Amino acid sequence: MSTFTPQLAGKLALITGASKGLGRAMALALAQAGATIALVSRDQAKLASVKAEVQALNGKAELFIADVRQEAQVATLEKEVTARCGPAQILINNAGINIRKNLTEFTLDEWQSVIDTNLTSVFLLCRAFVPHMRGTGYGRILNMTSIMSHISLPQRSAYSASKAALLGLTKALALELATEGVTVNGISPGPFATEMNQVLIQNPEANAQFLSSIPVGRWGKVEDIGSLALFLCSDAGSFITGTDILIDGGWCAR
Ligand SMILES: NC(=O)c1ccc[n+]([C@@H]2O[C@H](COP(=O)([O-])OP(=O)(O)OC[C@H]3O[C@@H](n4cnc5c(N)ncnc54)[C@H](OP(=O)(O)O)[C@@H]3O)[C@@H](O)[C@H]2O)c1
Repeated sequence: MSTFTPQLAGKLALITGASKGLGRAMALALAQAGATIALVSRDQAKLASVKAEVQALNGKAELFIADVRQEAQVATLEKEVTARCGPAQILINNAGINIRKNLTEFTLDEWQSVIDTNLTSVFLLCRAFVPHMRGTGYGRILNMTSIMSHISLPQRSAYSASKAALLGLTKALALELATEGVTVNGISPGPFATEMNQVLIQNPEANAQFLSSIPVGRWGKVEDIGSLALFLCSDAGSFITGTDILIDGGWCAR
């Protein structure tokens, strides 16, 4: 009987939005497989708490403060991460926000903040960190897309637009890097019980509506995401590129 125990020892994984939710869960999973984690967000205290959790698992992590919407801050991040930890072999573009309202009620600033956080940041991060992966024969880029890359709901115009475009970016970059051992994939979560969705979970009507749309009958647990990220970053993921993996409890199968 074979067991699957991915090893990422010696690898540096940069995870944006690592202060909580899915980013935190992926940080813990990859750290347990031996990767050093560069934890990125705007919240020093929350990152310090995740760093302590990683260390409690005998893992290694460093924290970096950056607003991923800002070109100059991403450029500084690349310099600081490389100086303190060396080149990143794994980049997980996970930072994201959602603003739920009807399209006609969006201000341009709100629209732009969703697009900048969920899409333009990924361009900035990939542009900064891909050069470190090129020529090494190994690299992994995971972009947190969404079921909203594939389907949509009312009040999701900016979010859906950003996540569908992110899927396009994922495919194009995968093709650019395909011969170099650098894979680029999307992970499309369905509804997970993170802070982003607390407003829905705490509203009995919305909660019931969501649960009835998830065939497995529950919200995703953050632990569900770590193993998938780990698999895609491992050698077992080397022939998987330019695609998007739904982890949605069956939502999109209906
Ligand atoms: N939860 C779901 O059901 C679900 C479903 C589909 C897709 N996703 C996607 O999965 C990703 C993670 O979602 P989540 O549920 O874990 O969200 P979350 O709990 O709200 O966490 C969002 C993370 O993004 C970071 N972030 C937001 N804006 C940022 C900025 N300008 N610069 C740097 N970091 C920023 C936050 O960090 P700070 O606030 O500390 O800076 C936080 O760590 C997102 O891309 C989301 O769209 C989630």
